[in-house]
Amino acid sequence: MTQTDCLAIVLAAGMGTRMRSDKPKVMHEIGGLPLVGHVLSAVKQAGTAKAAVIVGPQMPQLIETVQKLTPDAVCYEQTERLGTAHAVMAARQAYEQHTGDILVLTADTPLITAQSLAKLRQELANGADVVVLGFHADDSTGYGRLLVENGQLTAIREHKDATEAEQQVKLCNSGILAFSSKHMAKLLDAVENNNNQQEYYLTDTVELANRFGLKVSTVTASEQEVMGINNRAQLAACEEVFQNRQRQHFMLEGVTLQAPNSVYFSHDTKLEGDITIEPNVVFAAGVSVASGATIRAFSHLEQAHVASGATVGPYARLRPGAQIGEGAHIGNFVEIKKAVVERGAKVNHLTYIGDARVGEKSNIGAGTITCNYDGYMKHHTDIGANCFIGSNSVLVAPVQLEDGAFTAAGSVITKNVPQDSLAVARAMQTNKIGLAAKMRQKLKAQLQRLKNKN
Ligand code: UD1
Ligand code: CA
Repeated sequence: MTQTDCLAIVLAAGMGTRMRSDKPKVMHEIGGLPLVGHVLSAVKQAGTAKAAVIVGPQMPQLIETVQKLTPDAVCYEQTERLGTAHAVMAARQAYEQHTGDILVLTADTPLITAQSLAKLRQELANGADVVVLGFHADDSTGYGRLLVENGQLTAIREHKDATEAEQQVKLCNSGILAFSSKHMAKLLDAVENNNNQQEYYLTDTVELANRFGLKVSTVTASEQEVMGINNRAQLAACEEVFQNRQRQHFMLEGVTLQAPNSVYFSHDTKLEGDITIEPNVVFAAGVSVASGATIRAFSHLEQAHVASGATVGPYARLRPGAQIGEGAHIGNFVEIKKAVVERGAKVNHLTYIGDARVGEKSNIGAGTITCNYDGYMKHHTDIGANCFIGSNSVLVAPVQLEDGAFTAAGSVITKNVPQDSLAVARAMQTNKIGLAAKMRQKLKAQLQRLKNKN
């Protein structure tokens, strides 16, 4: 990686009408992260110190998102949509003040990698003044063609302006370029809009650079990496590529995925080695899992932590704030929200634990429910260590069960249970000896009378 300072200018001014959405295109997400976030994270990884994001008018949501993801990024508004060069020029203040490398990217190519950006920067370090990231297109329709002579890129010809011979060129413009700051302002100022779209094309800087006697070259990336998003079908195609990258990454890090294509990750999923993940598991945002844990089939996890050796699922749901301790068991049809389940505790069947603590080695019987919400406020349930909660218990919060407490099955617990005590909170059972047989005889006789009548 080169040592010069780097500025990234990210074009995000387009609304993206083909998305048919009320929000700006680059706010749509892949792996739970807005498209613009993917590009910002790639430029950061490539050693970029500063980012300038070009936004369109009335995109407060986008500005807020950029600020949240990259607090030191500066947003510039392109008030009128007059072309890609015009968009870059909205950040004039940023590039005029900058000395070093300048990367220009579009925010709708979220799969771009830091490695390709590093290649662009390396080419600048090797003496190029302008570098274009190209790719070999399967179908080059619609893309600008890269015209190269003896290693020098002489022009980018937009599809509609290309001659028949030029249209045969398969090397296309990804829309990602790198400039040395020395010539940036001069090149942009020279761009004109005398084309049939009457737009200021950033791609015209290539011919201008040739006219100024500058060195212009290309480096390449795979077509998949520079795949752009214009509609929701392309959004899904990019999501698939992103998911495959995540799956590959985790498997090489020592995570077993029994059916990789059925497991979905978030951009921020953290998994240690030696974890087993069964089929059909979804990791939403903010999940971390420690080594030796097993996530069984059909589980959904979000903003949750699973400690080493724990088992979750099948069919478990960990909601925000779920913290599963070492070796703990969360079983089928169990939902955990904002609750700590301590080391070795077991919550195995058909249970809701919310706003609670389950102490070490406690066992929660099937069908247990923490009643945490009264329609206005949430309340806490505290279950100590080594407790045994009988099946179908209802724990009405706020309530505390001290260490070693025991609740009888079917109890509705509304009062605290002291240490090592048994709480029984259900109607008493009485047995009427022989009454079942008498009732059967009576009912049989009734039925016979009815039949005789008809
Ligand atoms: C552009 C390139 C083309 C390349 C292709 C790759 C130009 C002239 N052409 O074509 O060579 O092969 O990308 O996908 O650059 N934008 C603004 N403000 C504007 C205009 C555009 O922010 O005034 C943004 C758009 O939101 C978009 C990006 O710049 O993200 C590219 O613009 P677009 O009009 O889509 O260019 P293409 O025709 O795709
Ligand atoms: Ca485009």
